[in-house]
Amino acid sequence: MTQDKTDRTTPAHVAFIMDGNGRWAQARGLPRAAGHQKGAEAVHAVLRHAQKIGVRYVTLYAFSSGNWNRPPEEVDNLMGLFRQYLKSDVKELIKKKVRVRFLGDKERFDPDIRDKMKEIERDTAAFEDFHVAIAMNYGAREDIVAAVKRIAMDIFDKQYLVSAIDEQRISDSLSTSGFPDPDLIIRTSGEQRLSNFLLWEAAYAEFYFTPVFWPDFNEHDLDAAVEAYARRDRRFGKVARG
Ligand code: FPP
Repeated sequence: MTQDKTDRTTPAHVAFIMDGNGRWAQARGLPRAAGHQKGAEAVHAVLRHAQKIGVRYVTLYAFSSGNWNRPPEEVDNLMGLFRQYLKSDVKELIKKKVRVRFLGDKERFDPDIRDKMKEIERDTAAFEDFHVAIAMNYGAREDIVAAVKRIAMDIFDKQYLVSAIDEQRISDSLSTSGFPDPDLIIRTSGEQRLSNFLLWEAAYAEFYFTPVFWPDFNEHDLDAAVEAYARRDRRFGKVARG
């Protein structure tokens, strides 16, 4: 990942920790599955609006490597939702020429889900204007471990020397390689933590926390987050502007 140092008011890359589906449902006396279903629907409007306001990269934290520890019925329900999303809803993204990629280890998913993920990546590989990364079975620490192993193997194969390891090489070895670092990370539902999301990439990200539950997060909430971002003074370690 390269760091975008331009003084933009619109973030080039916005990453979302989509939290609060369960509480959204609970507040309405509905099963948690209803919250996830509504959460998946909210994704469409947010992506459409992000593209409209000039965001070029979006990353969505859809399923963490730790989420496998949820009750089996909930994991099954989420897998059903991903199946549905990948088989039908993603067509909309392809129609809009969105380049889609998946972050995280695909091998733990059922073969039909895994194959669909690979097919979508292949079918959208030529699109360049708007990029969406969906983190599924993703954990930033696991991603860093995989990058370290890749670099170690390259050194073992004598492709380069230890002295050639720098920040760029580490960024290029992560599954997020090719995306700029996130400028803005939005977490919904009032929680204020990273939860093993983009730990390396978030070095200079601005954070925006909102109490809104993900299923209710809409275009106006995204505008509010981007307006807050535009007011921030990003210094990347330098002194404040006079
Ligand atoms: C967190 O809410 C949400 C998840 C673990 C799942 C996120 C999935 C979606 C929004 C739908 C699918 C999206 C795509 C892109 C396919 P939570 O269940 O932890 O809520 P809680 O903290 O209120 O219990």
